[in-house]
Amino acid sequence: MKEEIDEVIEKALELVTPSEDEEKRAKEAEIELTNKLKKVLKDYPELNFRFLGSYPRNTWLRGNLELDVFILFPESFPMEKMEKEGLEIGKKVVDEYELRYAAHPYVHGKVKGVDVDIVPCYAVREADKIKSAVDRTPFHHDWLKSRIKGKESEVRLLKKFLKASNLYGAEYSVRGFSGYLCELLIIFFGSFKTTVEECRKLTRDTVIDVRKAEMRKDKSIKGLFVVDPVDEKRNVAANLSLDKLAKFVEKCHSFVENPTISFFEEKREEKVDYEVLKEEIKRRGTGIYLIKIEKPEIVEDNLYPQLERACRKIHEHLARFNFMPLRSSYFVDDACYLIFETEVRELPKIMKRMGPPFEKRKDVERFVKKRRRYVPFIEEGRYFVYDERKHSSAVDSLRDFIKREKNSLGKNLREKFDDFKLLEGEKIFKQGNEKFKVFLAKFLCLVEE
Ligand code: CTP
Ligand code: MG
Repeated sequence: MKEEIDEVIEKALELVTPSEDEEKRAKEAEIELTNKLKKVLKDYPELNFRFLGSYPRNTWLRGNLELDVFILFPESFPMEKMEKEGLEIGKKVVDEYELRYAAHPYVHGKVKGVDVDIVPCYAVREADKIKSAVDRTPFHHDWLKSRIKGKESEVRLLKKFLKASNLYGAEYSVRGFSGYLCELLIIFFGSFKTTVEECRKLTRDTVIDVRKAEMRKDKSIKGLFVVDPVDEKRNVAANLSLDKLAKFVEKCHSFVENPTISFFEEKREEKVDYEVLKEEIKRRGTGIYLIKIEKPEIVEDNLYPQLERACRKIHEHLARFNFMPLRSSYFVDDACYLIFETEVRELPKIMKRMGPPFEKRKDVERFVKKRRRYVPFIEEGRYFVYDERKHSSAVDSLRDFIKREKNSLGKNLREKFDDFKLLEGEKIFKQGNEKFKVFLAKFLCLVEE
């Protein structure tokens, strides 16, 4: 039975709205943190602090409470000093601190059991005069604050809808929608319902200009462009990948056609049966290759692009040597894993190599002079010859390629490729934990991403 869209949204509200207890914990933590900050900042008279992000706008998602506090430094502060003092202050005001990295290193910790980020940034006069990306945040807040009033639930619905499909978050491991982007979309479209209805029309050349309240097409762009109301040169959707945009449009279609509460439910990763995967690998008859390297100590937003590059390079190599790669992907856990599936595992010892047309005599002489096991032949006026293949198996070819080309496989990965493990077919399970199996099931298209 088709459920009415409004009924489903009504039900979803319960999933997204923070409980009274969560609200209370938030308020208590805010008060505690404010007091601590006021005390600590007495020693730093030039600095201020502000609560920014989703908490002060009441747009955080039930169960995902996090206080984002920004320490504002005058522009005159040298970057190094700002980073150092930012961390000092952070460590003084939170429990169980750990360092995290965005534009600058910042402190993550807890206050009264609530998650807190203490982020240093520069207080700049205008949003297009920023020194680093986080400096825009106060402007984002000031722009949103009054406009989002009354629409908090709509934002939460959108965040949850996205989260349930792994589309929420601008970090590289997701490449989806940031919280700020969600709020802008709600302001632009007015409600969650209108957002999903209208977003069915999004294309890779859509421009959404929130400030001008206009949506247009621009053939020169590649990927949704949401103009930042506080800095018109910036695309708020810059980190949204084309494929995640496509998946969002797909989800909007299916939700409008058949709205159910499951669009708001985060799926628990199902257990994947080891035997099923093994059987599947045997059944397909493709080549499956897993490369394992040690994980470098760098932040995700730096690591993921490098893994992507390495994957692409290796994929291209497989294509170039006719192993016919289907898909490739990577997985990060205790180590980094790159995975490739090819239509071809083994090629013949010989290959047909193309030479010059007969009219190019100089080239022909050079071509036929080379000593080979086989004599050249002519086809359609062109020389060819059977040549020995350097590697006839994809495994050997991969191993050789990585040894030769490791320097081009990512700045922080190259030394890790000095010592890589290459596993084929069913042997890839040799290191498989539960998460890896889920990844594999997704890679083999047995379950949805
Ligand atoms: N921010 C940033 N650069 C980052 C991460 C965050 O500038 N790498 C800023 C964003 O402008 C955002 C604020 O920090 O408004 C808080 O970030 P985040 O907690 O990720 O987003 P929220 O809007 O608070 O959404 P959520 O409900 O998911 O916490
Ligand atoms: Mg936040």
